[in-house]
Amino acid sequence: MGEVRAEILSTGRAYPEGIMTNADLEKLVETSDEWITSRTGIKERHRAAEGEYTSLFAVAAARQAIERARIDPIDIGLVICATVTPDQILPSTACLIQAELGCNKAAAFDIAAACSGFLYGLTLANQMIRSGLTRYALVIGAEILSRYVDFTDRSTCVLFGDGAGAAVLGPTDEDRGILATRIYSDGRFAEQLYSPGGGTRIPPTAETLSGGLHYFKMKGNELFKVAVRSMADVSLEVLNEAGYKPDDVKLFIPHQANQRITEAVASRLNVDDSIVYSNIAYHGNTSSASIPIALDECIEKGKVQEGDLVLLASFGGGVTWGGVLLKW
Ligand code: UT7
Repeated sequence: MGEVRAEILSTGRAYPEGIMTNADLEKLVETSDEWITSRTGIKERHRAAEGEYTSLFAVAAARQAIERARIDPIDIGLVICATVTPDQILPSTACLIQAELGCNKAAAFDIAAACSGFLYGLTLANQMIRSGLTRYALVIGAEILSRYVDFTDRSTCVLFGDGAGAAVLGPTDEDRGILATRIYSDGRFAEQLYSPGGGTRIPPTAETLSGGLHYFKMKGNELFKVAVRSMADVSLEVLNEAGYKPDDVKLFIPHQANQRITEAVASRLNVDDSIVYSNIAYHGNTSSASIPIALDECIEKGKVQEGDLVLLASFGGGVTWGGVLLKW
């Protein structure tokens, strides 16, 4: 028997039906379709309606993944929900999902690592499966970022979208699965993307709400450079660890933050555009949901075949970043 690794058995995705186009945003703030398209690559993003909440889409995406994996929810020993826009502070969104799906023997918790949350989750699930602590794990990235977007701030409101993606992982002793993972953080950059109010430091009051302190604030320009460098470096690190080179990668899915970031990372890695997946035009930046949504789309489109090397890289608020290399 070979070394036991965790592999992704299946994926799923779900998002609100509501769509906000660049033309819709032109009516809210001083912006243009031309600016948004050329600076970010985004054309439209899904937006939750009143009454919709994060776990609704998380559960839908997870159900799809569980059905495709053909496993019983009771056999799932770990439910991780990566989110910075939970249903509520307490309990964790993962517990709400766990109950809804009937994963009645699972540990469940949220990970708040912003856009890197899904890769943080894959890293933890990988270790729990390898160590034998659990057989099957469900890792979800789910966000309703539009609830924390200031629709009077043109520098952020054009970027973010809502949605969820999920993956079921299980063990394999065949020559495939997760080959290498790396996750990092640097809280010195915390205030480059953050929501100052609404927690214990600045508790929610009528004043903090009217002052918009719960909204996401971002120094996009400064983050841009760190994002490109971190995602390229961590990609090389996981490739090196597994003994591969960028040329060997058949599919590269970076976190969808900005089309220009994706292109800059691809150029640093010197990989061909044809292997780099982008769906930012139709989803915007969905934070922790962006990579699992993209992966599910790639599987549906037949972009990933048995034996392919798949590289995932992320960067987000915290700041946090990570890389995962898989053999399909
Ligand atoms: O999810 C992971 C974490 N997030 C990121 O990694 C995001 C990284 N950053 C970015 O994607 C980009 O920095 C942005 C898309 C956020 C901004 O693009 P940029 O090319 O860095 O623009 P900028 O912030 O340097 O702003 C350039 C100009 C400014 O005007 P002035 O000061 O030059 O007159 C902005 O006020 O563009 C203006 N601007 C806009 N104009 C029209 C900013 N947002 C808009 C807008 N429409 N929506």
